[in-house]
Parts: sequence; structure tokens; C-alpha cells
Amino acid sequence: MQGNNAIGIFDSGFGGLTVFKAIAEKLPNYNYIYLGDNARSPYGDHSFDTVYRYTLECVEWLFEQGCPLVILACNTASAKALRNIQQLDLPKKYPNRRVLGVIRPTAEVVGEMSKTKAIGVLGTRGTIRSESYLIEINKFFPDVEVYQQSCPMWVPLVENNEHEYPGADYFVKKYIDELMQQSPNIDTILLACTHYPLILPKIKQFLPQEITLVAQGDIVASSLADYLDRHQDIEKALAKEAKQTFYTSGDTDIFNAQASVFLGKKLNSKPMGSN
Ligand code: DGL
Repeated sequence: MQGNNAIGIFDSGFGGLTVFKAIAEKLPNYNYIYLGDNARSPYGDHSFDTVYRYTLECVEWLFEQGCPLVILACNTASAKALRNIQQLDLPKKYPNRRVLGVIRPTAEVVGEMSKTKAIGVLGTRGTIRSESYLIEINKFFPDVEVYQQSCPMWVPLVENNEHEYPGADYFVKKYIDELMQQSPNIDTILLACTHYPLILPKIKQFLPQEITLVAQGDIVASSLADYLDRHQDIEKALAKEAKQTFYTSGDTDIFNAQASVFLGKKLNSKPMGSN
């Protein structure tokens, strides 16, 4: 199926749908192919090499579908695989394709949102241990203190659709408390995992009202719009028929049921192996 010319959106599972939703709202005319690697998610506790290998396989699959541009709508993949893909794989094998992540566009703007110059970052173990946000935010905002907290139970709660039930409260409060104990100055908290916006209402319940919670969808969508403005060669190569196709490496029935909850519309996903 070469020549599809859609924008590829990749996530380990459902989380990237929060980014996809924001992108498709801001840039509705393009064609999109979403791929969730649900069969192998969560990625959060996998090694660097494993996340790199899985992500590269999925990116290459999206290239095979004809995507000139792929967005890693996954912080864990952006933290552990993006640099290798951009620096090693693209120049060698795919010099005309592009892969973008979610960490840099977020780090570029999040520092402006804090008055106290103290930002909390919540993410998977993989993202937090990589220290990608610490490094990137401090590149753009050297005077900002970054406090990190991994939340390993949150992705499984979302992937299993348990995040809105009372059983989730314990783990939501636990990680929020652990983050807030690190500094009384934190006034802005970044949800540095694309699954976490689904838990946002619950996170709010356990935080003082004045704390700003930042989800990435709109930030990544604006950054993509800006990128396409600046890269007309890529923009011109993209199809503009407003077609959206969803693939999963997991079970399509489960994906359809869950993804519909995320996107608020009925979906008919295809198995990744079907092409
Ligand atoms: N949603 C992903 C992220 O932004 C990954 C979650 C996971 O698979 O552990 O980090």
C-alpha cells in the first residue's frame, strides 16, 4: 500500500489517541494512520534496546504504508528510540522520511507556564529514568527546577479501562503525593505520558486547585502545524482527503471498544498484520 501519504501516529497502545485527537482537530484535512502496539504495551518498563527495536519496527511498518512523516505520540518511545531513529536509521535507510517526537515540543513551552519556576513531571519509569525532560527543559529554561516522578501503575489502569473507577484512587494519590513531597514550590505539573490525560480529572481531585496541569496534545498539534509550515517539501507530499485509519498489533475488538472511549466515536480498527 505504498503512496498512501498519510501522517503516521504511533503509540505503544491507546495513549497516543490523546495526541492524535488534538492533531486531527487542529489539522483535519490530512490523512492519518494510527498504530497502537497494544500487543507489546506497556513500554514503560522495557529496556532501552527493546523500546528502540519495537518502535523502529512500528515506524518502518508505517513507512511501508506510505507515511512520509511519523509522529511518536509516546513519551517512552520518544525518550528511548527517537534519537537513534533520527540519527542512525533515517540517514542510512530512509533519507526522505521524517520522524518527530513529543518531548522537545513540550519542553520548549512548559517552562513558560510556571510562575514559581518549579515544574513536576509525571511519566513512565522509562521516560523518568531517561531524564529526557530534565535535560530538555533545562536547555530551554535553565532557571527552572524540574522534579520527576514515575507512575508505573497508571498506564496499566488506562489500558485496562480501570482509570475512572474508585480502585484507581489509591495509585493516583500515591504518585501525586510522592511528587508534591519533593518541593512545596511546584505550581505546574506536566503529564509526560500520553495516557495520563485520561486520568486528568482524578489527578485534579488530589491536588490544590491552583496547580496547573499540562497535557501535551495541543502542544504537539501546534508544533506539528508549525513544522509543516516550515517544511513545505513534506507538507506537499501529504495526502489531504481527511481519511483516518486505525491499526493495532493487539486485538481489534478490544482496541475498538477502548479507543471509542478515548475518541468519543465508533472505530473500526484493522489488525497490523492485515496488510
Ligand atoms: N503512552 C506512552 C507514553 O507517553 C507509553 C506508555 C507505556 O507504554 O508504558 O509514555
